[in-house]
Amino acid sequence: MKIAIHRRKNSFSANWIKYCENKGINYKVVDCYSNNIINQVQECDALMWHFSQANPKDILFAKELTFSLQTAGKKVFPNFPTAWHFDDKVGQKYLLESIGAPLVPSYVFYDKDKALDWVGETSFPKVFKLRRGAGSAHVKLIETKSEATKMVNKAFRQGFRLYNKRANLKNRWYKYKKGQTDLWNLAKGALRFFKEPEYSRIAGHEKGYVYFQDFIAQNDYDIRVIVIGDRAFAIKRLVREGDFRASGSGHISYEKRHFDEATIELSFKMAEKINSQCLALDYVFQDNQPLIVEISYGFVKEGYYPCKGYWDRDLNWHEGSFNAQGWMVETVLS
Ligand SMILES: Nc1ncnc2c1ncn2[C@@H]1O[C@H](COP(=O)(O)OP(=O)(O)O)[C@@H](O)[C@H]1O
Ligand SMILES: [Mg+2]
Repeated sequence: MKIAIHRRKNSFSANWIKYCENKGINYKVVDCYSNNIINQVQECDALMWHFSQANPKDILFAKELTFSLQTAGKKVFPNFPTAWHFDDKVGQKYLLESIGAPLVPSYVFYDKDKALDWVGETSFPKVFKLRRGAGSAHVKLIETKSEATKMVNKAFRQGFRLYNKRANLKNRWYKYKKGQTDLWNLAKGALRFFKEPEYSRIAGHEKGYVYFQDFIAQNDYDIRVIVIGDRAFAIKRLVREGDFRASGSGHISYEKRHFDEATIELSFKMAEKINSQCLALDYVFQDNQPLIVEISYGFVKEGYYPCKGYWDRDLNWHEGSFNAQGWMVETVLS
């Protein structure tokens, strides 16, 4: 078995490569952006590529390339069941409703009039989301009908840019105040007022649909559980001060006591139904019951290094550090 690996800075790839070297697994570094990538992978049995929702090239063709190779009989990471819904909250709504998952009640409209009718009769607050984005960048609390109407009008007129410079600068300011980032990072947020990031320009405007969820109140954290094969680990993310959003806050707790077994068990069940190699589930809670707000396959690996241990499929706890990227390689080998 030989694995082709696309190398990218700040991705899973460095750990995949290290794992292959330590275990004596045959691998080859390839360049997915090259015109002859199919040729490069030909001699291999598998391709692993940690593509990103914020990379201007990846968003153009990462799924198309990996799914093509999968169609041809290669193993890929992430494969189709793992990745097709990545960075697509609307796709996730259909998937999670189809499998009977406990998704936060979610609403999507492709007609302005139907959306406005719904705004007229529903209750508020609601949570507005774009289908794409991470770190809470496009998640907004909508308190009134008139605010919702404005969002609907914008969604069916000019649409939304994937890079929201105001929200982004506000987030950088928050992190700077909390000592989570430096002055240069803050300054970059200000410079972004003059130059939109390339991924956002390439992706174009998000428009022609509008997506809302019920607002699940009184959650001062969310829980993220990640299932890879027969193992799961979790983090608790506290919301930003004066905010309801946890993702991207940088306030993370790791102790096992924060996580209840029912949520871990549910996560294993969901990963199995979706047939995912690697599934991160974000949960909020209503009357102690977990409700999914979104799923994804990718994550920032450094945020999970401090995890205290992991659960196996039988919910046994294994204390100590672990190599989640190694598990990904194992799912490809299995
Ligand atoms: N329907 C909801 N009710 C209450 N809080 C929510 C809801 N949806 C999201 N949140 C909060 O907002 C954060 C970001 O939402 P999420 O859908 O995970 O978007 P992102 O892709 O930006 O992480 C979550 O971490 C959670 O704290
Ligand atoms: Mg999230």
